[in-house]
Amino acid sequence: MSNVVFQNIVKQFPAAGGAPGGLAVQDLDLTIEEGSLVTLLGPSGCGKTTTLRMLAGFETPTSGRITIGGRDVTHLPVNARNVGMVFQSYALFPHMTVRQNVEYGAKLQNLSKAELNSRVDEMLETMALTPYADRAPSRLSGGQQQRVALARAVVTRPKVLLFDEPLSNLDAQLRERMRDELRAIQLRLGITSLYVTHDQSEAMAISDRVVVMRNGVVEQADTPMNVYARPGTAFVAEFMGKANILEGEVQEIGEATVRTRIAGASFELPRGPHPLRPGQRVRCVLRPEYLRIDPQGPLTATVKRVVFQGGHVEYLTEIGGQECTVTDAQYFHGGIAEQGRPLRLALDTRPVWMLADDQNTNALKAA
Ligand SMILES: Nc1ncnc2c1ncn2[C@@H]1O[C@H](COP(=O)(O)OP(=O)(O)OP(=O)(O)O)[C@@H](O)[C@H]1O
Ligand SMILES: [Mg+2]
Repeated sequence: MSNVVFQNIVKQFPAAGGAPGGLAVQDLDLTIEEGSLVTLLGPSGCGKTTTLRMLAGFETPTSGRITIGGRDVTHLPVNARNVGMVFQSYALFPHMTVRQNVEYGAKLQNLSKAELNSRVDEMLETMALTPYADRAPSRLSGGQQQRVALARAVVTRPKVLLFDEPLSNLDAQLRERMRDELRAIQLRLGITSLYVTHDQSEAMAISDRVVVMRNGVVEQADTPMNVYARPGTAFVAEFMGKANILEGEVQEIGEATVRTRIAGASFELPRGPHPLRPGQRVRCVLRPEYLRIDPQGPLTATVKRVVFQGGHVEYLTEIGGQECTVTDAQYFHGGIAEQGRPLRLALDTRPVWMLADDQNTNALKAA
């Protein structure tokens, strides 16, 4: 067993830290199931790296407990925890060859020469690095260097793998390829992994679960699908991608749907798990892809700005005084609407998500 459990973890730095009261992490409870990949996602300074470093042993929690496979590691030194790490700047040794870099990790483990060699060979093969074994890291591409860093971490057969923004130095195309490769290797090896990123699409693409953090607190921990389509808070909705949060009024509550008035039009929206009452103001999360340009559509938007993106056109619009982003991937049929023009829109109501009542109350008070 090598599941990881954080229990009531608090990390307070001397007040010099930017977090309120120096609290970098507050009351973190989190389980990473054996063999799964969990991502910590959130804006700069929210406590992602600090959480990772506490699991690695580079930081000690102010209070709380961390276990790996049931063993309390909270106060164990780094080298007694059996974790492997892959960093943003790969931290490869420039004066060593690829092979020597990979060997380095395993050398500390007192293996026989034969065992060491066979493990390193196997690792180089797994990472498709065998042809580059005798090269210096400086003569490799970014993606190859990344694989060396991963090989060096995995060769020790760690119980847990930790990644801190490992792809952020790569260009967009390579980043996507390495992301998929990395996930494939993680699944194949079945190593329990904690991955830090501030890129929401990366998080959704590779994770079993996504933990969205804000100011040292977990806002939501759920599957990629749920954090995207069923956000617990407006913050999560907006952090996970383009979200239109439109205010509506509950008209009538049915069995599975709620008749809701949004910008002068009436919709049967899915009811969701939160309590509602007629007349209540609610905030509805509409992803741009739920809206479609349709001359017969019930909503009228005014185009404020047009952004051409190649695969689609993005319209920043206003609907009944509320901002709303609409994407159109069919512009080559209907043409591109100009700024100031009205756009009629149809809404696919099925995926629309209503935020919980307290979110509504808070958000409306703030507005
Ligand atoms: N050694 C330290 N001493 C004091 N404060 C620190 C220290 N390390 C981190 N902090 C503070 O703790 C908070 C969380 O930092 P952390 O590095 O965990 O953020 P992060 O989510 O990884 O951000 P980023 O996306 O920018 O890497 C920040 O406010 C930071 O200033
Ligand atoms: Mg960080």
